[in-house]
Amino acid sequence: MKTEITRRRMLQIGGAAVGGVILSSADRIVRADAPKPAQWVWKPIKPESIQERAYQSAWAKIGCMYGIVESIIGTLTDKYGAPYNTFPVASTVYGSGGIGGVGSLCGTVNAGGLLFGIFVEKQEDLFALCNELSLWYEKTAMPIYKPVKPNQDIPIVTSVSGSNLCHISCTKWSNASGHKLMTMPHFERCNRMVSDVAMKVVSMLNDYAAGKIKYSETLNDFSKGCLACHGPEKDKGNVSANMSCDTCHENPH
Ligand code: HEC
Ligand code: HEC
Repeated sequence: MKTEITRRRMLQIGGAAVGGVILSSADRIVRADAPKPAQWVWKPIKPESIQERAYQSAWAKIGCMYGIVESIIGTLTDKYGAPYNTFPVASTVYGSGGIGGVGSLCGTVNAGGLLFGIFVEKQEDLFALCNELSLWYEKTAMPIYKPVKPNQDIPIVTSVSGSNLCHISCTKWSNASGHKLMTMPHFERCNRMVSDVAMKVVSMLNDYAAGKIKYSETLNDFSKGCLACHGPEKDKGNVSANMSCDTCHENPH
């Protein structure tokens, strides 16, 4: 509908516009007609209040990234409607299994980054929040959450990932628990972690919005030592990372 109107109006404007020119004038017209975008403002949420929802949503799609985004954006949608109800929450299923099963970045950390990106304007702060969450994730023994209505009512061993990578995090847990991956106990473990990270992300956004965020996570001493030479602007300057180096490297020197 909109496209038709736009085309007709463009014909009225006249001009034998072709190709890119048509597109750019159409673009201008659509933009002039478009309503002002609504503000994506963070509204405080009680961190504990979303835990069970995060866990259950994660189970609904076996989606770690989805569980966090659904519980947080969904809670804001229920309370305030627009603009929160316009977010394509289902798109975040891509984050499952470290981006579509690739085993790369854990979907929970990915979800945190996305939400910080939505609600935090200053890039410097956005990066600081991402780093804080990632380092916290690396060193926290999880899962902590005990579901109200567990899908799998079994004891779950905790483990420390030492890494924000799905592969490393899950395989360390597999070794610690003796469970094979891509099984119900594995999903139970990950979906409980979704709840833990959702609570962390909400707390961080609450604190940030209230102007009282404290950044307390730092790299371990081993890694700080490496970056003293390999880090940006240092002698070697060939590493740009803020992950624990000792998860993958020994000291080769
Ligand atoms: C005092 C500065 C310095 C520190 C500290 C340092 N490096 Fe290096 N590193 C170098 C330099 C210079 C090279 C390249 C020359 C060489 O091979 O020795 C290098 C090379 C390497 C290489 C590739 C070559 C090889 O020897 O395998 C790796 C991997 C590496 N460093 C990892 C680390 C890690 C991990 C740490 C922290 C535990 C670390 N480095 C700490 C200066 C340093
Ligand atoms: C998830 C695993 C992982 C983590 C975490 C990691 N690295 Fe690496 N790193 C690698 C891999 C894999 C390579 C490529 C190795 C190769 O080329 O043989 C590499 C390459 C390097 C090299 C270049 C080696 C060379 O041959 O020149 C250096 C130096 C290095 N890493 C330092 C670090 C430092 C410092 C950190 C922490 C801030 C870090 N790495 C974190 C896996 C990791």
